[in-house]
Amino acid sequence: MEEGQREYLSRTSGSGELYERALKVMPGGVSHGIRYFRPYPFYITSGKGARMRDVDGNELLDFWIGHFALMLGHNHPTVLRAMRDQLELGVHWGVAHEGEVKLAEAVARLVPCAEYVRFCNTGAEATMYAARLARGHTGRSTILKAEGGWHGFCTDLLVAVHGPYDRPESLGILPQVQEKVKAFPFNDVGAATKAIRRERDLAAVIVEPVLGAGGAVPADGEFLEALREETEAREALLIFDEIITGFRLGLGGGQEYFGVTPDLVALGKILGGGLPIGAVAGSEEVMELSNPLGGGRDGQRVSIGGGTFSANPLTTSAGLATLRYLEAHADEYKRLGVLGNEIRSAIPQVFADGGVHAACTGAESIFQVHFPRGEGLEVKSARDIYEGTHYRLREEEYKLLLVNQGVFTMHGGGALSLAHTREDVLHLRNAVANIAPALRESMR
Ligand SMILES: Cc1ncc(COP(=O)(O)O)c(C=O)c1O
Repeated sequence: MEEGQREYLSRTSGSGELYERALKVMPGGVSHGIRYFRPYPFYITSGKGARMRDVDGNELLDFWIGHFALMLGHNHPTVLRAMRDQLELGVHWGVAHEGEVKLAEAVARLVPCAEYVRFCNTGAEATMYAARLARGHTGRSTILKAEGGWHGFCTDLLVAVHGPYDRPESLGILPQVQEKVKAFPFNDVGAATKAIRRERDLAAVIVEPVLGAGGAVPADGEFLEALREETEAREALLIFDEIITGFRLGLGGGQEYFGVTPDLVALGKILGGGLPIGAVAGSEEVMELSNPLGGGRDGQRVSIGGGTFSANPLTTSAGLATLRYLEAHADEYKRLGVLGNEIRSAIPQVFADGGVHAACTGAESIFQVHFPRGEGLEVKSARDIYEGTHYRLREEEYKLLLVNQGVFTMHGGGALSLAHTREDVLHLRNAVANIAPALRESMR
């Protein structure tokens, strides 16, 4: 690893200088915890297609693509054109405009559960509003989630994200949150069913159709079906967090992909076309509770602001251009799925050839590499990864060695955008082959 660090330091002196400055004015020198890695992050100056360039002139093949948001790749001309046109007219008005109507119409057209849509600015706000709507609608308090489920820095749901899943995720979270948000293992139908049936005060179950930060683990169809059945039987809501999977597993997201329709969905990332966005959408019956014109129950509504910048015209222009492009090029999903499958089968094979035991999870364009501690591990949950794999190896050595090869991944993987090609998959494959010997050494 020292060798890997030395090489990184020698290639990134400009980033090193920027990081020194950053450390003096930002905690840990970063604007998001996961953007730090040892010895310091590289600093980007531009991005185009599937690649970014850093301040030292290094080119990186990017599989992180803006926290999964850049489905069309960096700086797609269609999105740029839409944003330029909008720039001339205004970037923030704080009043109603046609762009928000068009974007909401697109969401309602594409996402099966979305009869009504409310925009906000981040995914964390979207899950917060979804939790509030569920509690307001049912009059109950408890929310069940999956271990390893990441729903953003939403205070209401910041529980059981990291193993061992039984301690507070952060200082500053009220103890009551821990009592009212409980977790079951992902893909464990028995445990989830038991938890739902046991809970008398259940407002909702929230789940990602493919665990994102928790390990790129796809749900089993029957797991999602069981959640749907059990919540319905108890008149609790089912919320899908599709902030990663929305418009990524297909135009209709995870709910279309798995054929299970939730009551509410939290959306974000791709929906903003590269600009900040979140949205909560769902059935008219539930969403109507937030109607500012009244309705509600006993004169009371679920208060959802959306925020100062909600549905700002620059974001809606980029989001609409992105969704329209995806609709017009829907066959691209198939191509990305094929490339995703190639990655998921090639990486473990290439590592095995180099004497490293690896597994690769994911679905369609999403992938993530894991290094199991022993043979025969089937990764079906975040707990499997926490208990059964070399986590630090993935987060540190693997990542840094790949950066030295000109490839950027996060948590051992990332996703493909429409800008990625088969050559890029080969590039990744060759990079993995090149780093296997050093990684084998690290595992000793
Ligand atoms: C599944 C999931 N939910 C929620 C969020 C939070 O979204 P944001 O970072 O926009 O607040 C994320 C962000 O990574 C996510 O992956």
